[in-house]
Amino acid sequence: MTTLHTPESHQVHRPEVRFPAGFVWGSATAAFQVEGATTADGRGTSIWDTFAARPGRIVGGDTGEPATDHYRRYPEDIALMRELGLGSYRFSIAWPRVLPAGKGAVNRAGLDFYDRLIDGLLAAGIEPWPTLYHWDLPQTLEDAGGWTRRDTAQRFAEYAAVVQGAFGDRVTHWTTLNEPWCSAYLGYVAGEHAPGRTDVADGLAAAHHLLLGHGLAAQAIRAGAAGGREQRVGLVHNQGVVRPYRDTVADHAAARTADGVRNRLYTDPVLHGRYPEDVRERFSGDSDFAFLHPGDLAVIAAPLDHLGLNFYGPQWVAGAAGGVEGIDPSLVGGTPAEWAADGGVVPVRRGLARTAMGWEIDASGLYEALVRLATESPGTDLYVTENGAAFDDEVAPDGGVHDTERTAYLDAHLRAAHAAIASGVPLKGYFAWSLMDNFEWAFGYSKRFGIVHVDYDTQCRTVKDSGHWFAGVARTGVLPG
Ligand code: FCB
Repeated sequence: MTTLHTPESHQVHRPEVRFPAGFVWGSATAAFQVEGATTADGRGTSIWDTFAARPGRIVGGDTGEPATDHYRRYPEDIALMRELGLGSYRFSIAWPRVLPAGKGAVNRAGLDFYDRLIDGLLAAGIEPWPTLYHWDLPQTLEDAGGWTRRDTAQRFAEYAAVVQGAFGDRVTHWTTLNEPWCSAYLGYVAGEHAPGRTDVADGLAAAHHLLLGHGLAAQAIRAGAAGGREQRVGLVHNQGVVRPYRDTVADHAAARTADGVRNRLYTDPVLHGRYPEDVRERFSGDSDFAFLHPGDLAVIAAPLDHLGLNFYGPQWVAGAAGGVEGIDPSLVGGTPAEWAADGGVVPVRRGLARTAMGWEIDASGLYEALVRLATESPGTDLYVTENGAAFDDEVAPDGGVHDTERTAYLDAHLRAAHAAIASGVPLKGYFAWSLMDNFEWAFGYSKRFGIVHVDYDTQCRTVKDSGHWFAGVARTGVLPG
């Protein structure tokens, strides 16, 4: 077992830390990662079904079956959340369950699943916190061009209107998109995620249409609110923290480039109503941005009610121009392949402790990301909508899962979140990723992020030590010293 080397874990005395009253404590999942039942009750095919069926795309040839069979076992999972004292559940709604062809006829049976889930949550005193798009585009829409087509943004808004019409009487907090960077970049440029395309121009068009879809969906949700329950709309970014490896001109330039491609391309349109000039310039040979129509940015930049941050760890980069000589070769590269495609940007590790994903652990990045978002979006409520870590958990002979590393990770990051609040960041809640082990995209079931362990053969759930610990924090609002 490796030991954690976060700044916090070096402190001998960690003070007790108290979160503000009313702070939201929850856990998160996403439809394709947990539901299973991919052909049940008229569900249509999603791009992830298609992608997972292609040989070599997912570790171990894993697919969306059985996942954690949440589609059938949701009552047990709600009971677990209640037992853990979690006040909110961030889940996603599968577009192909609701509209199997992506548009047109509504599948009542698909909608009914979420109806039961939402009612079950409310009966257990847990706030339903749905995300409309966590990457599972209906395959028929992808066949017609997917997010590279403007039409898909319109279809997304129609889907949002259907879902809001069905649940707007019981749901207050809506999230349109989860991590548009992952959808656009990993899906359309790097080819690591569904639909597995590898074209920069496609990725840029996809990014724009995702953001436009967000803006149009936000309009649809707000329109549905007329006269009814308050509808609060937000979206979730995985705002990366990109740091220069060395204090050199080349490394600072690399960090700026990576920040543009990774963050500003997505946050500038939403928070500031513009595309970053340096990023447009960088991609001028790939795209003329003809997909950007007059009026789009005003739709995209309509004020948000809340903004979600998914954070796992910071990244360091060096400028290829400055050379990587002198850096331990074992630390160069190795972080997500996306940086390589950014040209001139070389990922470098610090040599910190890593999770089972290979991601370096440094909770100060969470503080940094929160402060930045609060500065860029003054007055908007912020939520950490995902934070957590994968480790190679096993059920011990005593029946428990003793995941001390995950508890240390969560503790360090919650301390960073608390420090952000103390600095004036309007952080209103925290959702642990994930409620339970699940299908970790291209890594299949090989990576375990849950605070609850899942045995995929028996579907037996076991609360990990970190889950018991998190439950204590959620119940009291206090991080023990
Ligand atoms: C995020 C995703 C989430 C999960 C975590 C580990 O990027 O939103 O579904 O896979 O990473």
